[in-house]
Amino acid sequence: MSYLSRVWLITGTSSGLGRDLVRKAVDRGDRVIATARRLSRIEDLAAQYPNNVKVLQLDVTEPFKQIRSKAQEAVLLWNGIDVVVNNAGEADALMETYKTNVFGAVNVTNTFLPYFREQRHGTIVFIGSRSGWRTNFVGNGFYGSSKAALHAIADALAEEVKPFGIKVYNIMPSGIRTQGINNMRWVHGETPSSQCSDSIKAISDYDEAIQSITTHFQSTNSHETGDSQKVIVDLDISKKCHGVLDLLDQWGDVAASTDLSE
Ligand SMILES: NC(=O)c1ccc[n+]([C@@H]2O[C@H](COP(=O)([O-])OP(=O)(O)OC[C@H]3O[C@@H](n4cnc5c(N)ncnc54)[C@H](OP(=O)(O)O)[C@@H]3O)[C@@H](O)[C@H]2O)c1
Repeated sequence: MSYLSRVWLITGTSSGLGRDLVRKAVDRGDRVIATARRLSRIEDLAAQYPNNVKVLQLDVTEPFKQIRSKAQEAVLLWNGIDVVVNNAGEADALMETYKTNVFGAVNVTNTFLPYFREQRHGTIVFIGSRSGWRTNFVGNGFYGSSKAALHAIADALAEEVKPFGIKVYNIMPSGIRTQGINNMRWVHGETPSSQCSDSIKAISDYDEAIQSITTHFQSTNSHETGDSQKVIVDLDISKKCHGVLDLLDQWGDVAASTDLSE
């Protein structure tokens, strides 16, 4: 059976996972609309793969109307779209993290849903994170919760769009050696920028916690084991799940005894 080539739109392809995904799709014989905030950072992809890659400027935090008009433009580039990958991600600043990881991904997805519903097929991929599961980790509150929100949104969406032949995948990578992870503020001894964490930095009670997370990221920096060219299964997620199951076992009797006595 011959392979039916697909058209992908991928956000945040200027570096890391997104950029590698463009190459992977091209290797399969697929066509890609590579998007990025700055076109200058992805024009080389179009030059290298003129038959497979077209580029489009897209900042996922743009207002919805702007994203929608770019989506209309995108659909015309290869005369259709089969897969949308919400890869663009941010980890360093509270508001930007949510605007990019959560609302950006939702807005991009929503602009393509009418099109996918009409054609009765389409695949939406969310690049979540192991951090959305391993939330019990110092310094992971903003980023981890943004990815946890994304996981929940993707789970619900998968059920909502199933009747229209649309598939939703929730990918949760971890520890992939990319520019993003290596440029995190923690690595340079800075706390993520937000009103909240800036004030935490000034509170000496948190010195030890900040030192521990900084040391963690500095020691793992450039030693991450994940290869963005491969699929990654993370064992920490399984550890966390077993921990939750153990907790439920321990508290099972108490939980069962909280019903209204009617
Ligand atoms: N590396 C890991 O271990 C790991 C683990 C779990 C999840 N992830 C997730 O994987 C995805 C890719 O991360 P990465 O590790 O490959 O990091 P990366 O190299 O920094 O890639 C992030 C990409 O997102 C883009 N981006 C950021 N804000 C954007 C916006 N508002 N609009 C459009 N593009 C935007 C960046 O573009 P600019 O060049 O314009 O900044 C960059 O191309 C992210 O969603 C990240 O959370 C990574």
